[in-house]
Amino acid sequence: MRVKYAYLDEQFANVEDYFADLRRLVASGEFTLGPYVDAFEQKFARYIGVKHAIGTNTGTDALILALKAVGVKPGDDVVTVPNSFIATTGAIIAAGARPVFVDSDDRYQIDVTKIEAALTPKTRAILPVYWAGCPPDIEAILKIAERHGVPVVEDACPAVGAQVNGRFAGTFGRASAFSMHPLKPLNVWGDGGIVVTNDDAAGTFLRLYRNHGLRDRDHIEIWGVNNRLQLVAHGVEAKVHYPIPLHLQPAAAGLGYKRGDFPVTERYADEIITLPAHQYVTADQIDYMAGTIRAFYRP
Ligand SMILES: Cc1ncc(COP(=O)(O)O)c(C=O)c1O
Repeated sequence: MRVKYAYLDEQFANVEDYFADLRRLVASGEFTLGPYVDAFEQKFARYIGVKHAIGTNTGTDALILALKAVGVKPGDDVVTVPNSFIATTGAIIAAGARPVFVDSDDRYQIDVTKIEAALTPKTRAILPVYWAGCPPDIEAILKIAERHGVPVVEDACPAVGAQVNGRFAGTFGRASAFSMHPLKPLNVWGDGGIVVTNDDAAGTFLRLYRNHGLRDRDHIEIWGVNNRLQLVAHGVEAKVHYPIPLHLQPAAAGLGYKRGDFPVTERYADEIITLPAHQYVTADQIDYMAGTIRAFYRP
């Protein structure tokens, strides 16, 4: 059986509705920002329940802007995890700050018991990640951040629609970032991102500052933003996210970390695979994947 990782051909099997919208857009000539983007931003803000939603070219840009919006400046420290897409750390570096890593817990989310030990007098933000769309212990993170007077920026890039106790991902932090990459739950034809905030001053800043900065995900040495990995086994298009944690990447050499510093993250990096998980995966395909995994462990 083949279980496809990507699902876009199925999502866009009937494109006529999209083309009808596109014809209206082309006729309007509103290709950069304008009323269509305004309408989308307002709709998204209403959907998750925030005051300001600002569209960006990518989730990476949204992260950079979010960090800048909470006041991260060159020389600051930002606490985050080494088990994320390169863009999380790339955004911190792009904002001129230093990433300070915290290992993950058994859910592969930031280990909240280790955050306080990572705070320094220069910590200007805590940047937890909704890894694979799952929420970190955001309420515990907020309590720690409040105690230390440090803003939280949520990397909710893979988590449009995720909720914690009935509240949407991205509404907890001072500013938060979402991605609309084609393989995210809410996606666009190309790249897209959204940065959100309830803070009026940050909202004004973000609207003025919005910008783009696409980079090559395959070349981490230059803190790029694009990286695609693939492993195909038994017809299941599984992937690995990611085989080399960020603190062990060549680009991180100057940060002073070594193998062994984040044992949970390192163990998972050696062991994990990402299975196809989208609305077009059938029950039969899920059974097939489960059977394939069982057979791997009990040959
Ligand atoms: C956790 C995380 N952060 C940041 C990004 C960057 O988003 P984008 O590819 O839209 O720049 C992604 C998406 O790939 C992601 O999964």
